[in-house]
This record gives sequence, C-alpha cells and structure tokens, in this order.
Amino acid sequence: MKLFLPILLTILACGWCNGLRILGIFPLNGKSHWVMAERLMTSLAERGHQVDVVTHFPLKKPPPNYNQISLEGTLPVVVNNVDANNVTVFSNFDIKILMEVAGTRICELISHKQFQDLLKTPKEYDVIILEMFTFPCYLGFGSRLNKPIVGLITSGFPEWLSSLTGNPHNPSFMPGIFQSLSQRMTFWERLQNTVLTNLMSGQIIYHMNKQSDFVRKYMNIDAEIPDLHRNVAAILVNSHYCINGINSMSPGLIEVGGLHINENSDPLSPEVKKWLDESTQGCVFFTFGSMVRIETFPKPLIQTFYKVFERIAPVRVLMKVAKKEDLLPGLPKNVMVQPWYPQVTVFKHKNLKAFITHGGLMGTQEAIYFGIPLVGIPLFGDQRVNLKLAANKKVAVNLGSLDNVTEETLYNALETVLYNETYRSNMKRLSNLFRERPMSAIDTAIYWIEYVSRNGFILQSPAIHLTWWQQNLLDVYAFILACVAVLLYIAVLLIQKLKNYIFGCSSCSKQKVSESKKRK
Ligand SMILES: *[C@@H]1O[C@H](CO)[C@@H](O)[C@H](O)[C@H]1NC(C)=O
Ligand SMILES: *[C@@H]1O[C@H](CO)[C@@H](O)[C@H](O)[C@H]1NC(C)=O
Ligand SMILES: *[C@@H]1O[C@H](CO)[C@@H](O)[C@H](O)[C@H]1NC(C)=O
Repeated sequence: MKLFLPILLTILACGWCNGLRILGIFPLNGKSHWVMAERLMTSLAERGHQVDVVTHFPLKKPPPNYNQISLEGTLPVVVNNVDANNVTVFSNFDIKILMEVAGTRICELISHKQFQDLLKTPKEYDVIILEMFTFPCYLGFGSRLNKPIVGLITSGFPEWLSSLTGNPHNPSFMPGIFQSLSQRMTFWERLQNTVLTNLMSGQIIYHMNKQSDFVRKYMNIDAEIPDLHRNVAAILVNSHYCINGINSMSPGLIEVGGLHINENSDPLSPEVKKWLDESTQGCVFFTFGSMVRIETFPKPLIQTFYKVFERIAPVRVLMKVAKKEDLLPGLPKNVMVQPWYPQVTVFKHKNLKAFITHGGLMGTQEAIYFGIPLVGIPLFGDQRVNLKLAANKKVAVNLGSLDNVTEETLYNALETVLYNETYRSNMKRLSNLFRERPMSAIDTAIYWIEYVSRNGFILQSPAIHLTWWQQNLLDVYAFILACVAVLLYIAVLLIQKLKNYIFGCSSCSKQKVSESKKRK
C-alpha cells in the first residue's frame, strides 16, 4: 500500500511525459491574426501539452495547461475601432507605415517585462511557436532559448520571407500576395509580377534587417536578421492550394489553411437562432470583420444598404454592428443587428445563403468551407486580392471598392449570388476541395509541431544557407556569361590573326602605302 501512491503518481505524471512544453509568441495586436493562433494554442493545450502563450488577447476561460502571459495594454488593440476615416487612410498601402506599425512598434515590446522575464529566467521549452510576418526580431528567442521555432503565418506565404526561409519564390507562376494575378500569366503580367514583388520584398527586407538593433539591445544577441531565420525549423501557413494555387514549397512549409475553423464553435444565441430558423426564404450575413464599425460609415452609404436590404425581402439580413446606438435610424424590418456572432455557427445554418464581406482572409475561408457565395466590398490590405481571386473563381461578385456601392450594383450582386445557380454550385465545389484532406488542418499543424519537437531541424531547407542571388543562381549565370564572353573574345582575336596570316596584313600594307605616298 505504501508503494501504491508513488506508482499511481508516476503513472499520472507519465500522462505529462508525452506532453510538450510549448512557448507561443504572438506579439501582433491584430485580432484577425490572433484568431488562428488562439485555435492552435488552445488545441495544443487540450491535447495535453503545456503551453505558455504571450498574447494581446488573454482568454476569459482558458483551458487547463494554458498559461497566459498578457500583453494587454501595451498597444492599442484593434477591435471595433476602425471607422470610415481610418478605412480611407489604411487603403493607401504604404510599406513604411506597415513596417512601423507591424515592425518597429512590435519589436519595441521586447523591452517589456513580459519578454524580459522570459529572457532572464528562461524556462525549459521543447519548441517555440512564433507568428511570422514583419517582425523577425522575435526569432532571437530561438537563439536565447536554444530551441527550434515553428513559424505561424496567418496569411498566404508572403514572398519576402521566401529567400530568408529557403523557399525560393518563382514569379513566373507564383503571383505575389498583393498582386491579384492568376497563375497563368502573359509576358506583361510576368514582368509586372517580377518587378513589383521584387521591389516590395526588397523594401520590406531592408526595413526588417534594421530590426537587428532591437535584437542587440533587448536580447543581447549579435546576429543579423537573415541568420536568425536559421532558428526556424518549419512554417505553418494559412493557405490551401485550391484557393491559393499550386506553389513550390519545401516540405517544411506546411499548408494549414482554415485551421481556425472550429466546427464545434459556440452556439447561437436563442434570438439569432430563432431569426435564422425563421428565414425560410434565406438569410444574408453582413460583416466587415472584427475591426471595422459599419455604423460609422457615411449616411448615404448606410441608406443605400437599407434600401437594398428592403428590396431583397423576404430574404433576411444579419448585420454586425458594434454599437447599435450609433446606427442610422430606419433599419428595415428584415434586418437584425448584433454586436457579435459566433460566425462559424452562422455559416453552418442551412438558411444562410450569402455573405457580404470586406474580404478578410479568415471570414472568406469560413464562407468557402461552408459553401456560402460572397458579395465583396474590399476596404484595405489583402482584401482586394482575396476578393479578386474569389471573383475569378466565380464564387463571389466583387464590387471592387466602397465607392462602387450603389443601390443598383449591390442589389444586382445580391440577386446574383442568391439566385444564380453557377455561383452556388461553384462554391459548393470549392468547399469540397477545401475540405478534402488526409488530415484536418488543426491535426496537421499539431502533428508537425510534435514532429519538430522530436526531430528538430530535419525539415529545414538547405537553401536557407544561400543568399537570394545564390538561390537564383545569378552568380552561376554571371560566371557562364563571363566565360562565354571571354571565349567569344578569344575566338574573334584568333579569327583576326588567322585572317592576317592567310591574306596578309591588308590594313597595315595600306598604311605603308599611304605613308610612303605622304613622304613623296
Ligand atoms: C482612426 O481615426 C481616428 C480619428 O479619426 C483616430 O483617433 C484613431 O486612432 C484611428 N484608429 C486607428 C486604429 O488607427
Ligand atoms: C466599379 O464597378 C465597375 C463596374 O462593375 C468596374 O468596372 C470597376 O472596376 C469597379 N471599380 C473598382 C475600383 O473596382
Ligand atoms: C449566372 O452567372 C454566370 C457567370 O457569371 C453567367 O454566365 C450566367 O449568365 C448567369 N445566369 C443567369 C441566369 O443570370
């Protein structure tokens, strides 16, 4: 009996032997980025791993094994605070501003206590999960904790990370993530793609390289940014070939598109459930995401929305409005507004027939997953591209911009996605392609994280040790060109010599003649 307790304890503790100790670092303060990280980290905890999560979005009810290190309050959180003016500002994409807001400002956070504690009294971890985007300064944690990093990318794979992570980007068939081009490009499109993606990558890499100052100052590591990328053992990317196309990827770049979609998400509130159940003629879901407040948009635009929604009755509308009191009066009877919806559960409902969206990647993937055709009104960032690609696949009607929203365009767009069978059947087909996988996205992600913790850098591309010009063989081509040039030069010299030998030196004999004439 005395032995029983220790044995029981050992058996219980051995439940933990398989559990990994995982550090998750998510320093970006964008809610849509966090959605993917939240699903991944909570799922890891639910599978028995011990996770420490550095985040701007602490959970109210974290699962067991889920320890939060909160960054709340260090930066303004971008939820429901983007108004109509901000949208205009954001839509003018500027790399310098992007690298300030999503680069420098994020790296500055390393000086905070939350990160300094992690550096000063490092705990034993098995693997680190880090969001990768425009703040490679955090790769220093891999060096300091001496553990492999699994990168998490919440968008498609951005081409500026290509050469840094040893996944060469080939602009002949891989459109840049901000280019709304198809994969079969004409000569001029390939030219545009090559020039623009290289220009943008060059600028972003230039700004990212400057972040080594933060690594030196706050982490006491003397390393350049490209070298820090050798801490990355694998990368999980939020893309899927049926949406993002066929791209060349090393085995360490793993597609987990739609990972955030949890079929067992929160239930609908009784009010919304009743509304949807009674929408027997169909219902349209309308949201501009977690950040943008529709109710701040100009009065004429809101009136346009109202008029169109009235016209599509008896089809109903569910609309996300953070502050009901700021909304223009005169809401049509077939529209319900709520500050928040369990979005996935709304998409799952059999009466939901269309989605009016700004084209945020997460919402777009959810709609594709559940086969709901889209009406797109892109606002900023990657939204324009996401919606153009969806429109090319004929699963969305893309209005192109807010300026293009009129009663006629919006009404026609809604009629098309609601009643044109082409859009619905295309979306069903895409949905099936998106779901048909050997393993679900979340299981795939967890599998490879566990794999990296066991096997380290096995998946790392050897191209990571080459510079971008070596990866593109520019040095080799330059050498071959130089050799050809030298050979050609020698050949020309030889031919000239040979000619002189056979026919005599005609030019010098002429010279001699003219000289002798002069003397005379
Ligand atoms: C949006 O614009 C307002 C001023 O119109 C500004 O106070 C606010 O900080 C901006 N919000 C964001 C997230 O940039
Ligand atoms: C606005 O709509 C017209 C007609 O559908 C289209 O040709 C144009 O490209 C759209 N504008 C934008 C900015 O997408
Ligand atoms: C449905 O949409 C397709 C693709 O845009 C179009 O070719 C077709 O004419 C539309 N059908 C109807 C009945 O409008």
